[in-house]
Amino acid sequence: MKEKLLPLAKKHGTPLFILDHNKIKENYRIFKKHLPQVQCYYAVKANSHPEIIKTLFHEGSSFDVASYNEFMQIYKYLKHFEEKDQEFFIWDKIIFSNTIKDRETLRKLKRYRPLVTYDNRDELKKIREHGDTAGLVLRLKVSDTGSQVEMSSKFGAEPGEANHLIRQAFDAGLVVEGLSFHVGSQCTNCDNYTAALAITSDIFHDARKKGFHLKIVDIGGGFPVPYDVQVPKFETLAKIINAECQRLFPEDIEIIAEPGRFMVATAAMLLAEIIGKARREGKIFYYINDGVYHTFSGVVYDHWHPNFTSFGRGKKEVCAVVGPTCDSFDKISLSVQLPGNLTIGDYLYTENVGAYSIASSTKFNGFDGAKIIHIGR
Ligand SMILES: Cc1ncc(COP(=O)(O)O)c(C=O)c1O
Repeated sequence: MKEKLLPLAKKHGTPLFILDHNKIKENYRIFKKHLPQVQCYYAVKANSHPEIIKTLFHEGSSFDVASYNEFMQIYKYLKHFEEKDQEFFIWDKIIFSNTIKDRETLRKLKRYRPLVTYDNRDELKKIREHGDTAGLVLRLKVSDTGSQVEMSSKFGAEPGEANHLIRQAFDAGLVVEGLSFHVGSQCTNCDNYTAALAITSDIFHDARKKGFHLKIVDIGGGFPVPYDVQVPKFETLAKIINAECQRLFPEDIEIIAEPGRFMVATAAMLLAEIIGKARREGKIFYYINDGVYHTFSGVVYDHWHPNFTSFGRGKKEVCAVVGPTCDSFDKISLSVQLPGNLTIGDYLYTENVGAYSIASSTKFNGFDGAKIIHIGR
């Protein structure tokens, strides 16, 4: 690793975010290989870097967007299609999966007749008034037990309300195209998927019996990344999902998913430099030139516990690694096993930093954040 990273540090400086597009392509292909029936809508929120979108678009991916800006980031690839083909391509390539959309966004989206999610009555009313050309997907509340980031406390209709919300939509002249859920991000508990699919199937069949011809099942994101050895293998999870989808749903439906983390987490590495060192209450604090307001923002938003590796050897001890800002909150980790003899100018690197990292980076304290370089394109 040293041979690979040191020349990059010398050439580009640090902090350096090294994004490997071959790995993104590989992740997309693994996803498609093991879930061949599932159309993949990459969740742009995980990392919205335009070069990632470009790579995935050329691989054939579709996209899950959370805002008008993300929508336009994808739409720019579709706008050259003729008007009559646009509706097909917009649905084929984009789902707007934020269940709550402000009125202005709905008004701006209206001309694109997008596919959007909803999970409550007020949202339905808002969509009818400001964006009634949209196709709807009802998001259900499902269990997210054991997932790194939970979702169900903020999103999803109670399964008991689902049929009512479907009927209300049709009564309002709107069309519900399908159902969706999200089992929580970095979901290492496969039972969350099986339970969610079972709930979705009950509601799906009930709706069809009542004459509402739903066509889409959106199994959301949450696909776990091998951050450590305990994480279940994607292949194992995919087998379960395939079997359950086959057992629970008719053949005439479209199954889609919104993986974010899975596509990009393992595709990036962060190289930072030690800019300060102090011993506080017996513990060594390494101050590096990146922190929780920048690439390590996932420590705050993503319940992330980053690990660090050094090139230098020496007797290891429990150290703290902290960021460069004047805020005492800017502590990345208070317990990392690192050599105690590292000095200013030495490097630390962290792997698997591609998801929920630079996506929520700020310019706090005037720091620009890591320089991004691309390899494997
Ligand atoms: C609606 C929705 N879909 C997909 C995702 C992506 O999830 P993940 O990165 O766990 O695959 C998220 C993440 O917040 C989300 O909110």
